[in-house]
Amino acid sequence: MISNSQSESGISFVGCGSATPPKIINNDQLGQRVDTNDEWIKSRTGIRERRVIGENQSLIDLASDAALKAIKMANWDEKTIDLIILATSTPEDLFGSAPKIQSNLGASNAVAFDLTAACSGFLFALVTASQYLASGSMKRAVVIGADQLSKWVDWDDRKTCVLFGDGAGAVAVEANKNDNGLIGYDLKSDGSRGGCLNLSQSNIFLDLVQGATYQKGEYLPIRMEGKEVYKFAVKEVPIILGELLDKHQIESESIDWLLLHQANQRILDAVASRFLIPSDKVLSNLEHYGNTSAATIPLMLDEAVRDERIKSGDLIACSGFGAGLSWGAALFYWHGPY
Ligand code: COA
Repeated sequence: MISNSQSESGISFVGCGSATPPKIINNDQLGQRVDTNDEWIKSRTGIRERRVIGENQSLIDLASDAALKAIKMANWDEKTIDLIILATSTPEDLFGSAPKIQSNLGASNAVAFDLTAACSGFLFALVTASQYLASGSMKRAVVIGADQLSKWVDWDDRKTCVLFGDGAGAVAVEANKNDNGLIGYDLKSDGSRGGCLNLSQSNIFLDLVQGATYQKGEYLPIRMEGKEVYKFAVKEVPIILGELLDKHQIESESIDWLLLHQANQRILDAVASRFLIPSDKVLSNLEHYGNTSAATIPLMLDEAVRDERIKSGDLIACSGFGAGLSWGAALFYWHGPY
């Protein structure tokens, strides 16, 4: 477990951006491929459609686009960026996709690396970036959550294929000794329960030379025990968020927005009802994008900032959860220009 002790982080949220692919696949279209229908998907998940990256576009394009918009909102010269973290489980290059984004942005003074924590990835990356900023070693960071789960979904498995989509979101955060934008956070992992949601390598060994084999680099499609994941989320998210609120002596009535990983509307509703948070304070856009993994939180944040639901000074209670198992929560003030 990792958590900060109090409001000393000294970072400000000053920009956000997002990007999604143009191709929309709705529930009826999926029903033409697998034995499912709009009614089943909507009632069990809240999802109506999702976006899928097609030819002539890439995850790096989306992530770069989202990051550029965040940098523009923050009004930063890209040469002043010190750090770029790309949270993703679906890199284009297993050696890392973040450096290509750094190059696309022209952020030649930034160090850039990938971080993998599945659907908790954005939150884990945000907290990681905050450590560099709070320590004084860096001043400006871009944190990106981007995933292309469409390439790892088994599109013939109705139990999983209806849930996921592609997208990217980003935030610009900077060190600010006079601000406590990130009030607190808590991150957790439990590998002993990791078997209920995996994107695992295949175990294929081929002959190398006489007497030796090598493992072929290949991954299996996403495999999930939906009920177990559901139970995990509705149990652990209220606990971690409740403990964080208690620790910082914040009443749930003070929360302006509940911003959860967009996996399933029923999970969002269950967590909101546990804290008696009214539905108009629960941010949700999964209807249009499905679960975009590390992208859901910044994608939702960006939408709500740009349509002026979230205003400067609003308090946001955020939680991400997913494979690993991994989960986390953060409380922060939005201080962007909108
Ligand atoms: N369309 C139609 N029927 C479907 C279906 C689909 N897309 N997917 C499953 N079903 C069927 C099942 O085959 C099962 O039929 P059976 O009773 O004849 O065997 C029935 O619906 C119930 O399946 P079940 O898996 O018990 O449904 P559920 O109520 O648990 O809902 C999820 C399934 C996936 C929507 C739900 O478990 C869930 O949201 N889990 C969390 C998943 C998640 O968020 N993962 C990512 C976390 S980061």
